[in-house]
Amino acid sequence: MLSAASSTSQTLIEKNADQNAGDITPPREQAFLCRRFTPAVEDELGRRYALRLNTGDTILPPGEIARLAQGAGVLFVTATEAIGADVMRALRPALHTIATLSVGHDHIDLASARELGIRVLHTPDVLSDACAEIALMLLLNACRRGFEADRMVRGGQWAGWAPTQLLGKGLVDRRLGIFGMGRIGRAIATRARAFGLRIHYHNRSRLAPEHEAGATYHDSLESLLGSADMLMIAAPGAPQLKGVLDRRRLALLPQGAVVVNISRGDLVDDGALVEALQSGQVFAAGLDVFANEPRVDPRYRALDNVFLSPHIGSATHETRDAMGWLLIDGLAALRRGETPGNLLA
Ligand code: DGY
Repeated sequence: MLSAASSTSQTLIEKNADQNAGDITPPREQAFLCRRFTPAVEDELGRRYALRLNTGDTILPPGEIARLAQGAGVLFVTATEAIGADVMRALRPALHTIATLSVGHDHIDLASARELGIRVLHTPDVLSDACAEIALMLLLNACRRGFEADRMVRGGQWAGWAPTQLLGKGLVDRRLGIFGMGRIGRAIATRARAFGLRIHYHNRSRLAPEHEAGATYHDSLESLLGSADMLMIAAPGAPQLKGVLDRRRLALLPQGAVVVNISRGDLVDDGALVEALQSGQVFAAGLDVFANEPRVDPRYRALDNVFLSPHIGSATHETRDAMGWLLIDGLAALRRGETPGNLLA
């Protein structure tokens, strides 16, 4: 049952607000949900917490979160909410746990969380397959000119099959350079092998042979770039990686390389990538993530050789449910005094 709890610029409602009315069970702990989760997950959260939610599902600026989540012990966020020390301090002492529906955690100041004694949960593993699927979708669409093909049919400009129409780049025997060979990178490699790609990778450290599965390790990003006919950016977002794919490094890619980014947009220097796409040094790109989302650099929209998607790596029904359940289970484990595997801080 939903009932109005407060009237603000964001419509706030309290989920299952009257569950405790008329009985003597102790009041449930307060929690605030910054974005809408899947119905099954929200229902369960509504059973476990006195849950307030941002029904409009808008991206809340830090000041609004600090205001709206007052009194919450648990703050549910996603990668769209920037949670810095100011928000955490404003929500202390009630706030004890931040639970983010994302594997990435570059939007949360973990050092401040540790300092303030706030625990942070995230959602690793359960989204690796879904993210790998999107990675391959982007790679295939970039290589086979998916945007132009769709536009031609949809726009009624297709005059019929032709021997030289929309010629793209095949995958077989090409080198896929994976930057970031964590769980998602490895899930991409598994699928890419089935397309006949040869896997190269760069990671902070070399993987054990069973995880490497025959892939070629490069101990520097520069070395990987020189060997990547197709570059897959799957490294986690982190302040120290901002702009790491700059003009100098992108120039190391072989002529006509393909670039795919499923990580975080700010790893790439947009100006440098746009120039490389315009000159043909990069044949095509597939991008699911962008610096300053949801504001996409308009130069990408003007290029035919870029396939774009709106940060949908983990966007399947089953994955978003699983991510929610992982947070619910992690919170229950914390309550029991255990250390769940998805605890970051
Ligand atoms: C993640 O889980 O980090 C995805 O990018 C969605 O935010």
